[in-house]
Amino acid sequence: MLTIPSQVEGVDYHLDDVTLKYRVTYCFRGVLPRLEEGSEILDLGCNRGITTKHLGRLYPHCRVIGVEILPGYLTEEAEGNVDFIVGDAFTDLERRTFDMVIAMNNIYFMLIHHPLEVQKKALTKIMRDLKRLTRPRGYLLIAGQQGNAEFIERGLMYRCIVQMDGNNSWTLRREDVLIEKAFEFSDALKTAIDALKN
Ligand SMILES: C[S@@+](CC[C@H](N)C(=O)[O-])C[C@H]1O[C@@H](n2cnc3c(N)ncnc32)[C@H](O)[C@@H]1O
Repeated sequence: MLTIPSQVEGVDYHLDDVTLKYRVTYCFRGVLPRLEEGSEILDLGCNRGITTKHLGRLYPHCRVIGVEILPGYLTEEAEGNVDFIVGDAFTDLERRTFDMVIAMNNIYFMLIHHPLEVQKKALTKIMRDLKRLTRPRGYLLIAGQQGNAEFIERGLMYRCIVQMDGNNSWTLRREDVLIEKAFEFSDALKTAIDALKN
């Protein structure tokens, strides 16, 4: 079975506001890409939108768009440099692309409905969609994190940053696999990245 970060038994996934707010900061501390003025960021599967709002403050010179497929989940409203879209990030963004795409704690939830034997194929499809959403020289950030604020730092299980070049190819710039369970996910992800190199 392909074990994906955030799929750890016995974990309480009812995350508190502090965890959601600072999740990007904690998960990508020290490695968050610098973006130029006017860059556009996609927070894919933004759920309540708290993380998206915090991204807006981390990148005040950029536009941040949170997309959430389930309308009932969004609790935050657009303000300043932050907008929200209710829809499917892979089919409803009308061919929009972004300078940075963040897929935080959601790839597992996209795979969970697939039978185990097709999960790796499904991961390749998700990666193809994520690649299409990412602009030339843009970044794709993926992370899996569990737990609430009191142990948020220990909760990081996996993170990676993939960068596009100007020729529709991409490179894994950084990867940290922090729990053993995430190694299989890491391998499958790297296979998908290689398969979609060009
Ligand atoms: C576990 S939550 C993670 C929320 C947030 N990124 C975080 O880290 O707290 C995964 C979210 O992704 C949403 N989602 C799944 N597939 C999606 C898609 N294709 N487009 C937009 N949102 C999607 C789910 O509805 C859910 O709210």
